[in-house]
Amino acid sequence: MIKRVLRAKWVITAILAIFLFITNCKHEPLINHIPGPVDTTGNGGGNADDTTICFERDILPIIVTNCAKAGCHDAITKEENRNYTTYSGIVTKEDIKAGFPLQSKFFVELNTGQMSQAKYGNLNAAQKALIKRWITEGAKDGKNCPSKCDSSKFTYSGAIQPLLDKYCVGCHKPSSLSGNTDLSTYAGVKDAAVTKNTLMPSLKRSTSWMPLGGSKFSDCQMAQIQKWINAGAPNN
Ligand code: HEC
Repeated sequence: MIKRVLRAKWVITAILAIFLFITNCKHEPLINHIPGPVDTTGNGGGNADDTTICFERDILPIIVTNCAKAGCHDAITKEENRNYTTYSGIVTKEDIKAGFPLQSKFFVELNTGQMSQAKYGNLNAAQKALIKRWITEGAKDGKNCPSKCDSSKFTYSGAIQPLLDKYCVGCHKPSSLSGNTDLSTYAGVKDAAVTKNTLMPSLKRSTSWMPLGGSKFSDCQMAQIQKWINAGAPNN
């Protein structure tokens, strides 16, 4: 008799435990295990092993070139009181709900809202996916990130173009032609790099260097561009 009561108690406990386990799982937000390489936009010869997202290295440059243009969300204009040149300017309670990109005004606007249109940001699919993943993973800050740059790699398609896409093209494409410089095509880049010879000097200026509103390029990134120009700026 006592044995039977004990057994019944054990069964009830087990059922209760299983029930709690199942309901618990249901409420877990689906934020983990989003696959995919991080550096889809390239960073000048990426390191395939590093799949973590670092805000300063992987996210900020895309936002600066696409959103922090003069007259928009730069540090001077701050359109709608939003300055998108710093982490604290971008990650506000109002615009970003960490873990939930589709509930974050910032992502919804650049994905499907007014800011997704060509005359504004119009980020490419890889850039949107990266920002979505960053918010999903908690929209964390990250500074002094390890560099993925390798100055021995300097082909146009493998290093130069990804670098310019990430840091420059948002302000330098036909629909947003700052400084009369188009960096969205090979012809335009070669024109700036060789014919006009404005590309390297623009990176090296001591004030208002390019990327405007962003950090100065590292020695390694500058070396990649300089080596490519020295090699005759080939379309390789
Ligand atoms: C936030 C917008 C913005 C970003 C990002 C940006 N630029 Fe510019 N760029 C400008 C503006 C505005 C001008 C014109 C005023 C000036 O020259 O400072 C300009 C001018 C230039 C010029 C012409 C300079 C000259 O002397 O004629 C070059 C070359 C250039 N940028 C290259 C780049 C490169 C390379 C990057 C990326 C590393 C970049 N820019 C990123 C806004 C931007």
